[in-house]
Amino acid sequence: MSAASTMNPHIARRARLLRRMGQGIAVIPTAPERMRNRDSDYLFRFDSYFYYLTGFTEPESVLILIAGEENGAILFCRERNLEREQWDGYRIGPEAARDKFGVDETHPISALDEQLPKLIANQPTFFYAPGADNAWDLRVMGWLNQVRALARTGVTTPLDICDIRGALDEMRLIKDTHEQATMQRAADISAGAHVRAMQAARPDGWEYEIEADLLHEFRRHGAQFPAYWPIVASGPNACILHYRENNRRMAKGDLLLIDAGCELDGYAADITRTFPVSGKFSGPQRAIYDLVLAAQAAAIEVTKPGNPWIAPHDAAVKVLAQGFIDLGLCSGSLDGLLESGDYRRFYMHRTGHWLGLDVHDAGEYKQAGDWRPLTPGMVLTVEPGCYIRPADDVPEQFWNIGVRIEDDALVTATGCEITTAKVPKRADEIEALMRG
Ligand code: GLY
Ligand code: MN
Ligand code: MN
Repeated sequence: MSAASTMNPHIARRARLLRRMGQGIAVIPTAPERMRNRDSDYLFRFDSYFYYLTGFTEPESVLILIAGEENGAILFCRERNLEREQWDGYRIGPEAARDKFGVDETHPISALDEQLPKLIANQPTFFYAPGADNAWDLRVMGWLNQVRALARTGVTTPLDICDIRGALDEMRLIKDTHEQATMQRAADISAGAHVRAMQAARPDGWEYEIEADLLHEFRRHGAQFPAYWPIVASGPNACILHYRENNRRMAKGDLLLIDAGCELDGYAADITRTFPVSGKFSGPQRAIYDLVLAAQAAAIEVTKPGNPWIAPHDAAVKVLAQGFIDLGLCSGSLDGLLESGDYRRFYMHRTGHWLGLDVHDAGEYKQAGDWRPLTPGMVLTVEPGCYIRPADDVPEQFWNIGVRIEDDALVTATGCEITTAKVPKRADEIEALMRG
């Protein structure tokens, strides 16, 4: 490994992927640009796999990897174009990109269709992500057919078409030190935004004002995007899992559930806190809140290497189900309730997901039919909740209470580190912060 590859995490990742491929050629394009409405595009976001392997953020670029070759990493990107750059912004261009991104060769993206059949010819295996994008599927099939048409000249076409995501997802599941550091910064910025939201919330304020505080806090610390659109859900809206309107006026006595995290240099944070807009939990709110917090503590306790992926969920469900019985929300025995699954009326989602470049990140949850064991370097969310909609058979004091508490956990050698611990979550701590 060269000195450059110890410095540049992308070079090291490409080398690891090439070893996993063993042989053949891989084609990894970045995301397409998409139009939002006439002449106005959605903000461009690179493809996570492409970025993971390159760190390159411009649209119209493709990474080619060829196993076993000296010049195994080839980047196709836009050429410099002073006129386009004056309109749309700076382009690095193939020449400067080669050094800056540590690839072996660069070519203008306009040469892709001409070059690819030549590069594919005689390779035994072709790796890409079939089905991810119709336009790329068609283009790739076109290149393969062009190579196939040369059969009588003695050229061979790859017989194995392999999904590159198999190898890449496994790599992305274990975060390297560069990723861990970036994710910690994303977590810190997001934590600061939640603290600010707790300080800003007040009865008669609007949900969108809090949304604006969150987005402002993300951006002023350099985060490029929210990792997903913030959920700022007050009162009954807290019971809508993917509430996005954020347009209600908050009232005294409401709980406010905020699920928000930024994306920094490609990496997501994902935090939820729930607190009373007036700064003081009511009795029933506090009972539900403390139950969800206890469920989260039980889940975090078993978030450690060797435990199966599902252990935190099972631990959280057990605490929640017992609490539902104790509070009169469910009846029967704990075992009966776990068996019937009736607790799902109030807790209908899983307790977490992988977190990384994507907020619901890459990686299988099962291996050979079994939940996979947690392993150091994995990052997952721990996010139990409880959502109580009005119904005749539900005690009225709990109607419209929705609570979720979500933190991000990095699995370590001995347990896990909560990267989002800087936002208070004990009820008394939240109340103290809001008083201050
Ligand atoms: N914010 C999305 C999630 O919690 O999964
Ligand atoms: Mn979330
Ligand atoms: Mn989440």
